[in-house]
Amino acid sequence: MVGRTVVITGASAGIGAQAALQFARQGDDVVLLGRSPTKLAAVSDRIAEATGRTPAQYACDFADLSDVRATGGRIAATYRVVDVLANNAGLIAPGRSTTVDGHDLTIQVNHLAPFLLTAHLEPSLTAAAAARVVTTTSAAHSVGWLDPDDLDFERRRWSSWRAYADSKQANVLFTVELSWRLRQTQVSATCLHPGLVRSDFGRGNRLFGLVKRLSPVGFVAPSQAASHLVRLATAPEGLAVPGGYFDSARLGAATSRATDPDLAARLWAVSERLT
Ligand SMILES: NC(=O)c1ccc[n+]([C@@H]2O[C@H](COP(=O)([O-])OP(=O)(O)OC[C@H]3O[C@@H](n4cnc5c(N)ncnc54)[C@H](OP(=O)(O)O)[C@@H]3O)[C@@H](O)[C@H]2O)c1
Repeated sequence: MVGRTVVITGASAGIGAQAALQFARQGDDVVLLGRSPTKLAAVSDRIAEATGRTPAQYACDFADLSDVRATGGRIAATYRVVDVLANNAGLIAPGRSTTVDGHDLTIQVNHLAPFLLTAHLEPSLTAAAAARVVTTTSAAHSVGWLDPDDLDFERRRWSSWRAYADSKQANVLFTVELSWRLRQTQVSATCLHPGLVRSDFGRGNRLFGLVKRLSPVGFVAPSQAASHLVRLATAPEGLAVPGGYFDSARLGAATSRATDPDLAARLWAVSERLT
């Protein structure tokens, strides 16, 4: 099947930009989301050059939920059918920072914003013959200790890694709950740890920078990580395990905390309230 409508967040760089190119090369219509219009235009130009088709671009800052709401609304109104939603944008914040919505930046960009965007696109996803939501998480989910009653670290000690690990655990829990909620539809949800990737990710984070410098061989190219995302969004294995966690090309094992259905339901309820 080609000619799918594929919405990709974090499409301005790294894994998302490469995935957009790969989807477009397969003949899919990609819809690019990123916060920088300049970076989006550069990715769009590269895709147009490679395929002869210019993708749609939406500048949207996930650090502002009103922007996510407005963009989600515009995309839903424009695309009555969305076949693939790749919730891929993400960051590890170099320092503690609070968004205009009053949330921890990492939790908002990595979890609350894609939660809200997915809600806006749900009618378009359920209108597709068979849609998929693929969320880019991380193996870092395994060291997260997400507390739905303290997502923003008001009562716990904050560190960039704790916030990141919690946000990536939220990605897995979101996938579990989304899959359960949409079990009677043709929409399937999975999540992906893309491996350690030589992208811009972690810029400004000293620990991640150090890991990258010390063990460059463990890192894969963004195009390789993107190929796992594209496969999960298109190949039959992406449907085999609803709510599943994939580690690069293989089915992986997320921690029991990240797949706990009660925690997933609690996180969903809190996320609905906060967005
Ligand atoms: N790289 C790794 O080793 C690794 C490992 C495990 C998981 N991951 C996950 O993979 C995903 C993609 O990361 P990557 O490696 O491709 O990193 P990247 O090159 O830094 O790309 C991240 C993307 O997210 C976007 N983004 C960041 N903050 C945003 C905001 N406020 N609003 C909207 N978009 C925003 C970035 O936009 P800008 O271009 O404007 O910055 C960029 O398009 C992330 O979810 C990350 O957690 C990465």
